[in-house]
Amino acid sequence: MSIQQENIMKLVERREKARLGGGLKRIDAQHQKGKYTARERLAMLLDEGSFEEMDMFVQHRCTNFGMEKSHTDGDGVVTGVGTIGGRIVYVYAQDFTVSGGSLSKTMSEKICKIMDMAMVNGAPVIGLNDSGGARIQEGIDALAGYGDIFQHNIKASGVVPQISAIMGPCAGGAVYSPALTDFTFMVKNTSYMFLTGPAVVKSVTGEDVDQERLGGASVHASKSGVTHFASENEEECLADIKRLLSFLPQNNMEEAPRRATNDLANRVDDMLNDIIPDNPNKAYDMHSVIASIVDDADFFEIHKNFAKNIIVGFAHMNGRSVGIVANNPGVLAGVLDINASRKGSRFVRFCDAFNIPIVTLVDVPGFLPGTQQEYGAVISHGAKLLFAYGEATVPKVTVTLRKSYGGAHIVMGSKYLESDVNYAWPSANIAVMGADGAVGVLYGKEIKAEEDPEKKKELTEQKKNEYNDLFCNPYQAAQKGYIEDVIEPRNTRFRVIRALEFLQNKHKEMPAKKHDNLPT
Ligand code: HXC
Repeated sequence: MSIQQENIMKLVERREKARLGGGLKRIDAQHQKGKYTARERLAMLLDEGSFEEMDMFVQHRCTNFGMEKSHTDGDGVVTGVGTIGGRIVYVYAQDFTVSGGSLSKTMSEKICKIMDMAMVNGAPVIGLNDSGGARIQEGIDALAGYGDIFQHNIKASGVVPQISAIMGPCAGGAVYSPALTDFTFMVKNTSYMFLTGPAVVKSVTGEDVDQERLGGASVHASKSGVTHFASENEEECLADIKRLLSFLPQNNMEEAPRRATNDLANRVDDMLNDIIPDNPNKAYDMHSVIASIVDDADFFEIHKNFAKNIIVGFAHMNGRSVGIVANNPGVLAGVLDINASRKGSRFVRFCDAFNIPIVTLVDVPGFLPGTQQEYGAVISHGAKLLFAYGEATVPKVTVTLRKSYGGAHIVMGSKYLESDVNYAWPSANIAVMGADGAVGVLYGKEIKAEEDPEKKKELTEQKKNEYNDLFCNPYQAAQKGYIEDVIEPRNTRFRVIRALEFLQNKHKEMPAKKHDNLPT
């Protein structure tokens, strides 16, 4: 065998060894926990044969606790570039079989390198996280590594889409990077996110809690909103990441790819003419309105189980990617509260950062009042949503279906926040508040003074009817030019698509500034 052949053989052997990460025993242990390895995950995520691995031979430089005697090529993270549906993505996948995927300084250098490349080349970054946090043996170097990753996440924010999947127990620094990215996925029963685990919680606060209740996928998908998706298993998680990408552009300078559809732009849906119940306090299914107006009824909902009183997600309309924001009258009557405002504002800001037009469907009775909301800073969180809509310069099309009252009316993509095209259904009520509240404020004393119960009822009804006639319709707003048109519900798809078509070259700039100061 020639020296060259020998060298090649050594390379092949070294690659094979590197591909085994922490070794077969630990790979088996990973499988027994119902988890895939980093490389198996990347193989499922990326187009077959597209993965170009980088830094396969990087090793840690730690010499504490005998670490100088234990090295693994690649050091706990697999990084590189590949394609999904033919589109380039930069990826990293932490390898739990190497020191529990814990983060060393060299690992962070590998991750930051591909993030730099993603930014320069304008392609999304996908991180598959499975890590015990900062590598304890490295001390401050591991913390510095996390700091570097966070700084890269911050720089990349709004430049390229950043997606995080949590595919194991992630603690400490391992949870902050995902929190800085645009979308987070968790896998039910095998992934956890917490600052620190149950044992430390017990010692610090005395609280008894297990991993699932502290930071399981269901908890973060429904209570905290830290994750946008809680997948049933890793396969579903990776498939949903691919689906999400299909709605997104590669970077902030591009538009999302158009998707071919046979769904006619001028398709009308008579069902929508009958969907609003006669009783204004009765709910109807906002999801079916969305399904009716978007291409092929295909709606990709984000944050499905968090703050269900507002619905956000992506769809296509005549092949163009759009972000849909809709109040949900089926949950808390579609009221805006702290969580709905957080959810809505983050989504609107993402759409604006990545050139995705925003279609807003309004049926909102107002903001939720009360001490719980006030103490939780509903004013500041509501202001976030207001801010997000007001600063968004992408095409904004708003349709008011039914209620649109008070501050919530202004927030939800109103004309005053420089929405481009605002339509209303004939059932729209655009007013400071509903008739019950308004009559109480304006005529409460007069009604109270009436002693005859029959007359009291009559007077109340009369005042309500007067109020309803004056305000509870879309025409006051239409007369003043606050909405462009009152449309027949069945035509909504066609009218929104047409608006999006004539807004497609919209170019608008906000005053030059270093950056804004978003309410917290
Ligand atoms: C070094 C680690 C490690 C870590 C795990 N390992 N976490 N090595 N540093 N942080 C190693 C283990 O020693 C073990 O090595 C292997 O990974 C697998 O770990 P196990 O404990 O056997 O696995 P499991 O039972 O599944 O438990 C996983 C775990 C647990 C829940 C992640 O290991 C754990 O609690 N780790 C510490 C989590 C933590 O508190 N991290 C916070 C770090 S501080 P062997 O050789 O036996 O296979 C931090 C601050 C950053 O991150 C702050 C930035 C803002």
